[in-house]
Formats: sequence, C-alpha cells, structure tokens
Amino acid sequence: MPLRSTDSGWGVLVRAFHWSIAILILVQATIGLTMVGMGLTPAKVRVFALHKSIGITILALVLLRIAWRLTERRPADPAGMPRWQVRAAHALHLVLYGLILAIPLSGWWFNSASNAPLVWFGWFDVPSLTGGYDPVWKPRALLLHQTLFWVLVVLLVGHVGAALWHHFRQRDDVLRRMLWKR
Ligand code: HEM
Ligand code: HEM
Repeated sequence: MPLRSTDSGWGVLVRAFHWSIAILILVQATIGLTMVGMGLTPAKVRVFALHKSIGITILALVLLRIAWRLTERRPADPAGMPRWQVRAAHALHLVLYGLILAIPLSGWWFNSASNAPLVWFGWFDVPSLTGGYDPVWKPRALLLHQTLFWVLVVLLVGHVGAALWHHFRQRDDVLRRMLWKR
C-alpha cells in the first residue's frame, strides 16, 4: 500500500489517520456520554481526566492529519458519479474536518473557562485557553461542545450511509479504497 494517495486509492497515512481518529471519537463519545451521569466519586474524576487526555490526543492527531492531507491529492471520483454528489461529498468532508477540530477545541475551552485542571495522561499540564475561570464563556463553550457533538452524530449517519450505499448499491471502490484496496 503506497504511503501517498494515488489516482485509484488513498495512501496509507490518510487511511491510518481516518480510522484511528474514527475509533478514538467513538471511544471518546462513549466515555463523554457515560461520565456526565456518574455520581461525584474519585472514579468520575479519573474518567473526566481520561476524556480530556484522549480529547487533546484527538485534537493533535486531527491537526497532523490536516497538515498531511494538504500535501496530498484526492483519488479520482467514481466515473459517472453526478456532479452534485461529488460536490456534496466534498462539502460534507470539509464540514466533518471542521467538526473534529471544533469539538475538542470547545471541550478544551470549556475546561479552561471552568478553571479545571488538564494534565495529559498525568504527564504534563496543558495550558489554559482563557487564563482562568470565565463565568460568561463557560456555559457557551459547554453548549457548543454538546451541540457540535450532536451535529457530528447526524452528519456521520449521512457519511456512513453514503459509504455503504457506494459499496453495496453502486458497487464502486469508494469504501474499498479507504479500507484495503492497494
Ligand atoms: C473529539 C473529541 C471529543 C468528543 C467527541 C467529546 C465528546 C463529549 C461528549 C459526548 C460529552 C457529553 C456531553 C453531555 O452530554 O453533556 C462531553 C463532555 C465533556 N467533554 Fe468532551 N469530547 C471531546 C473532547 C474533549 C476535550 C479535548 C475536552 C477537554 C480538554 C473535553 C472536555 C469535556 C468535559 C469537561 C465534559 C463534561 C461537560 C459537563 O460537565 O457536562 N472534551 N464530551
Ligand atoms: C468519527 C467517524 C468518522 C469521521 C470523523 C470521518 C471523517 C471523514 C473525512 C473528513 C473524510 C474525507 C477524507 C479526505 O478527503 O481527506 C472521510 C472519508 C471517508 N470516510 Fe469517513 N469518517 C468517519 C467514519 C467513517 C466510517 C465508519 C466509514 C465507513 C463505514 C467511513 C468511510 C469513509 C470513506 C469510504 C471515505 C472516502 C471517501 C472518498 O473517497 O471520497 N468513515 N471520512
């Protein structure tokens, strides 16, 4: 499998970024939705710390992914795919990139405005974005974190649905070339 993307398929790094970030977001969403309902125990504090550390890791991976992707080409779109579908797919990808950037950023922002600690896997302090407690932006950042997450969920239904439609109805290479096709 080539390192760089070609006309017929995605390079190994694009695929590694896509699937590692997708899996981490699934894990992260499960932790996020579970932890907010937990009773105030030491376990809750540990799970919050884990959510924040994984979230910062996702943010770093997304930044690396975007930097790498800017140097890459896109494989050719399937022959005969209508123009509006190509446009819609590209626009959706752009919005997905925006969301996977904005969701961890809003979490970090909320955490900063709450003046809560953020130590990456117990290893080093991640700096505050607000420089301390901010009662005005704290609820806004939380609302943004929650809302953008649900927007992502809705768009992912479309994204995954489109991938499965390409694979099972159109029987083209769109899903295969993101998975195993050389
Ligand atoms: C892609 C990355 C992330 C995803 C998918 C994600 C997802 C979520 C979800 C689904 C919730 C539960 C929301 C609710 O129902 O109230 C949540 C809560 C939370 N997230 Fe994230 N998150 C991410 C990154 C981060 C980061 C980087 C931080 C901080 C550094 C963070 C801090 C928090 C905090 C503090 C809460 C609890 C909010 C509360 O007290 O209600 N998240 N997150
Ligand atoms: C959190 C989950 C996911 C996110 C954030 C996400 C995001 C993205 C983004 C941003 C792209 C555009 C790639 C680029 O142009 O650089 C993409 C491509 C793709 N994704 Fe996902 N994805 C997720 C999950 C999935 C899943 C579960 C599937 C399959 C069932 C899937 C199938 C695909 C396929 C086939 C492409 C390539 C489309 C093409 O060649 O035009 N994705 N994804």
